[in-house]
Amino acid sequence: MKVAVIGSGGREHAICVSLKQSKKVKKIYCIPGNAGTNLIAENIEINIDNFEAIKDFSLENKIDLIIVGPEKPLVNGIVDYLKDFNIKTFGPNKIASKLEGSKIFTKNLCKKYKIPTAKFGVFKSLDESNKFLNDCTFPLVVKADGLAAGKGVYICEEKTQACVAIDEIFAGKFGRADKILIEEFLKGEEMSFFIISDGKTFKTFGTAQDHKRVFEGDKGKNTGGMGAYSPSMLESSSLNKKILDKIIKPTLKGLTELKTNFCGFLYAGLMIVNDEPFLIEYNVRMGDPECQTILPKLKTDFFDIIYACANQKLNSINFNWSEKKSLCIVLCSKGYPDNYQNNIVIKDLNKINLEKNEFIFHAGTKSFEEKIYSNGGRVLNFVVISEEFKKSRDNAIKLINKINWSNGFYRKDIGFKVIN
Ligand code: AMP
Ligand code: GLY
Repeated sequence: MKVAVIGSGGREHAICVSLKQSKKVKKIYCIPGNAGTNLIAENIEINIDNFEAIKDFSLENKIDLIIVGPEKPLVNGIVDYLKDFNIKTFGPNKIASKLEGSKIFTKNLCKKYKIPTAKFGVFKSLDESNKFLNDCTFPLVVKADGLAAGKGVYICEEKTQACVAIDEIFAGKFGRADKILIEEFLKGEEMSFFIISDGKTFKTFGTAQDHKRVFEGDKGKNTGGMGAYSPSMLESSSLNKKILDKIIKPTLKGLTELKTNFCGFLYAGLMIVNDEPFLIEYNVRMGDPECQTILPKLKTDFFDIIYACANQKLNSINFNWSEKKSLCIVLCSKGYPDNYQNNIVIKDLNKINLEKNEFIFHAGTKSFEEKIYSNGGRVLNFVVISEEFKKSRDNAIKLINKINWSNGFYRKDIGFKVIN
């Protein structure tokens, strides 16, 4: 089989590595890929927003399956577009992708199906929103409706901050805004919860806790994710059941009643408050770096799973997982998530000998004349699975030290809540 993976991050490199292990996969393309995918797949320089070029490439090269990594093409309808040309694509369609593409769509679904989530209001103007703030207690959360690359959420401790947030959103900081969302601040522990679905049935696909803040102790600005560990410390069979019954199943039912379904990975960002799950947001894809953290624990052939999903046969597959503890540390460019330099050479990467349970996934990297250069804020992901989170973390740090990249920084405390 010939498979094409769309995207260029650590998530997509991890997906390529898992596909590579399948005997059924003869050729992998990555569009556009990074220096890591380049080692095991053929990188194809096509802009991921150019659906027509992706379609032409797939037809010319007789691709059997396309796997879409990031949310933007999903939200813009790549799956519907390719389906019209009979190209098998793994990922949710445009309507289902609204779960990530419109926070207000998801909130209204929550309301209709009584899915636990933070109390909220939707406001259509600056005036209306500002008036509402007069009667609010703080902190509260102001959110832009659409995709905002993880930046459209403001946690506001006081009214002046909320006013700034509302101004910025209506001024178009995250694209044209007709409406905004203001919601109650939930205090609890966050958990990333994953399922995979073929549109008919679904199976759980692991849990993780992501460290989004840039500095140790979960301080500083939000980032795309500085590291993660799996399973989440909160995982238990009773909580799992609550999440499925109160959140996942009603959501899938809601989509059925909209005459559609969900095929792909669904990532529920949850806040667990006193052992009760609340939905904070949905993402219609695997998380990054959660994907890199979870996939190495999968023992079942990953291609079989995805191919079965794309053919509505997920029921026929049994999943086997390693019970080990996985931990991922993200090596970033100094200055991230603000300004940082690209094109800094990373030496000695190919000299590192990895043990069986160690992985280095590339994120923002590119190769040129046999050398590897940084090409983004999050550059490399170091993942180790072992019997204990501490050992996984210590070994991931050892790997980072071997590279000793002068332009890099990372959090040494990933997983601190599960490591004494
Ligand atoms: P999101 O982009 O929706 O994932 O939000 C980014 C981060 O903001 C989440 O990971 C949470 O840490 C935080 N957040 C969002 N909504 C809420 C809420 N209602 N209460 C508390 N924290 C929130
Ligand atoms: N790890 C957060 C995300 O993928 O959105």
